[in-house]
Amino acid sequence: MAKKLAVIGAGLMGSGIAQVSAQAGWDVVLRDVTDGALARGRGGIEASYAKFVAKGKLDADAAEQALARITTTTDLDAVGDADVVVEAVFEKIEVKREIFQALDKLAKDDAVLASNTSAIPITKIAAATSCPERVVGTHFFSPVPMMQLCELVRGYKTSDETLAAAREFAESVGKTCIVVNRDVAGFVTTRLISALVVEAAKLYESGVASAEDIDLACKLGFGHAMGPLATADLTGVDILLHATDNIYAESQDEKFAPPEIMRRMVDAGDIGRKSGHGFYAH
Ligand SMILES: NC(=O)c1ccc[n+]([C@@H]2O[C@H](COP(=O)([O-])OP(=O)(O)OC[C@H]3O[C@@H](n4cnc5c(N)ncnc54)[C@H](O)[C@@H]3O)[C@@H](O)[C@H]2O)c1
Repeated sequence: MAKKLAVIGAGLMGSGIAQVSAQAGWDVVLRDVTDGALARGRGGIEASYAKFVAKGKLDADAAEQALARITTTTDLDAVGDADVVVEAVFEKIEVKREIFQALDKLAKDDAVLASNTSAIPITKIAAATSCPERVVGTHFFSPVPMMQLCELVRGYKTSDETLAAAREFAESVGKTCIVVNRDVAGFVTTRLISALVVEAAKLYESGVASAEDIDLACKLGFGHAMGPLATADLTGVDILLHATDNIYAESQDEKFAPPEIMRRMVDAGDIGRKSGHGFYAH
């Protein structure tokens, strides 16, 4: 019998997770708070499947069957028979804690309760439940159908069984996992990109090299697909400033202290691609 997945939040990440999971044979229920959000999520999934079919990367019948495996609902009770629940709502701790409190009561006793948070400590989310050993981070990357990585995050009380079940789920939908053994701020991925962006911004700020040359060094010297300053512009300088500030606040490690230029860029509204200007003009 197909395994059952519940995804809470039908935004960019939740719909991506539902999409790859249904394609891999999971029966998926996608939950959001409004019918509009669910319709947008489902529409995005349909359009994405259509693109894969058009490129010859997915069979039309398989796409149709995958879509048929996804049901949508505004009712949280629908998590009741899920083997795995993945939460992918706004990055707000109060919202996530409220959802996990409800999941504690509504989900099966042996269901894995996962959060796709990019930065909130899993331990803080798990503490809203009476079963923190069943709570784990499954940090997927955007766009989910294209990005191979899933960062599994062990909260302070996550059990080995939960971590193993989360890995089994992520691998079953085609992802490759890394394990974050300690629930540190920024996990592994955000810590690495933050350290690189902070140093790149410092080199740029002090005039050691131009933005273009710093990015070229990473591309040609290290084989990175994109340089750190172009990455900051794509992600948003504001988002990265917030992430590095958080990691610095928790770790007190100077290497994560963002340089002033990142703050002034955000003050000035030069936050990257979405504003038309960042380390580069777009
Ligand atoms: N966008 C990214 O690149 C990315 C990458 C990795 C992780 N994340 C993380 O994934 C999570 C979701 O991010 P996103 O970009 O998909 O956000 P999004 O804004 O696209 O979607 C969030 C969705 O959650 C819904 N929602 C809010 N409260 C809800 C509730 N109580 N029940 C059900 N649905 C609810 C909203 O209506 C919305 O549709 C966040 O924790 C984010 O940090 C995002």
